[in-house]
Amino acid sequence: MVCLFYIKFKIILLLVSSAHALFPASFKWCSATAAHQVEGNNTKSDWWYFESIPGNIKNNDRSGMAVNHWNLLQEDIQRMKALGLNSYRFSIEWAKIQPAQDEWDRKALNHYKMMASELRKAGIEPLVTLHHFTLPQWLALKGGWASPESIPAFTEYSKRVFEALKDDVSTWVTFNEPMVLITAGYLEGSFPPKLKEDFPSALKALKNILTAHGEVVAQLRILDVAKKARFGVAHHLRVFDPVHSFNPLDYFMTKHLDKIWNWSFPEALATGRFKLSIPLQASVDAEIPKLAGSQDFFGINYYTRDMVGFSFSPPYFKRSNKENRPLSDLAWEIYPQGLGILLREIHRRYPALPILITENGIADSADKNRIEYIKNHLAEVERALEQQIPVESYCYWSLMDNFEWAEGFAPRFGLYEVDYANFNRTLRKSGLFLKEVIGNKTVISTSAK
Ligand code: FCB
Repeated sequence: MVCLFYIKFKIILLLVSSAHALFPASFKWCSATAAHQVEGNNTKSDWWYFESIPGNIKNNDRSGMAVNHWNLLQEDIQRMKALGLNSYRFSIEWAKIQPAQDEWDRKALNHYKMMASELRKAGIEPLVTLHHFTLPQWLALKGGWASPESIPAFTEYSKRVFEALKDDVSTWVTFNEPMVLITAGYLEGSFPPKLKEDFPSALKALKNILTAHGEVVAQLRILDVAKKARFGVAHHLRVFDPVHSFNPLDYFMTKHLDKIWNWSFPEALATGRFKLSIPLQASVDAEIPKLAGSQDFFGINYYTRDMVGFSFSPPYFKRSNKENRPLSDLAWEIYPQGLGILLREIHRRYPALPILITENGIADSADKNRIEYIKNHLAEVERALEQQIPVESYCYWSLMDNFEWAEGFAPRFGLYEVDYANFNRTLRKSGLFLKEVIGNKTVISTSAK
């Protein structure tokens, strides 16, 4: 009798807990940074040079010491621990490791080795990005990603980093947001090499990046004797919706942008064939050896959606925010449902790949929307998990405020607020909220204090 009662009790407990999908114990709670944005003193990089030209960065800000993460690393690891994070995504600065073509800086490489091992000791799994927007200036002068020299150069650099860090690092992002890098650098002119509407060079650079990814993964797999490493890319995906839902031209444009921006790169990684056409501008259709199947996980960086209307002049579309939707400080629409939509689409396209949310965050200097932002995006993740979509991790961008590329220091993305006068970090309310969520393993029933 007692036994029967106990079994019934257990069944009720099970039903109650399954009504609410909790994040699994294995879930990786992470925050992300990129070397140039946080470390400081990246003097041999193309960005250091780019920032020195007045007008390139808002308010002519210079990255300078950034937020001094290089020197404050140990304290920052304690800050991660204080939040309950069990993973940290950071990038390696190529220009520090190879400041000149024939010069390798062992001390810089050792810094990253120490970083990975200190994180592990603190129970925080390192997730390492090999390329996050910056290049050594010596390589930029040779033509950067548009030059085929970039492929062996990146391979050599990656092998050295892999050899040094492989005992502590098993998850590797080769490239961060190739589409952003190339659009900003070759079409909009807001990143180095500051070219405008140079479609042929943009496609050449994308093809070289894909080739470099394939080559690097093939070679690192050979070095990976323990067979424990996984490789992927952090893709910047957006939702594109038509400004006028019944206008076929607007609708056509959203489909076109979705295909090019979101899927041309991942499809190339899956199939080994890079096919992209920008009508009236340039196109590419190339088989790339070693590329097919070179992605072991799908990394998604998600921030926003674009409302798009057709336009009769290049680039044949306009963005609009006519309906006064909620915006971040950078005027990016806050659209959490988009994360759910994209997670389902990634899983539909690549059912075998685990999904890592490698970035998600908001510029919000007053910290007035960040709690809702995190809450609503994590609710989408929780729902996706309920639908058996294999999301492994969530990296909030960013651990602390930092140097936001051409936007300078003004945008504030951090869980920790940084005082740039002395590099002091102060936990924001939203940081505390994320900590609560991590503790509760659910966002649905977590409320802000
Ligand atoms: C992403 C970048 C990252 C940061 C955030 C706000 O596109 O990967 O470095 O700038 O945006």
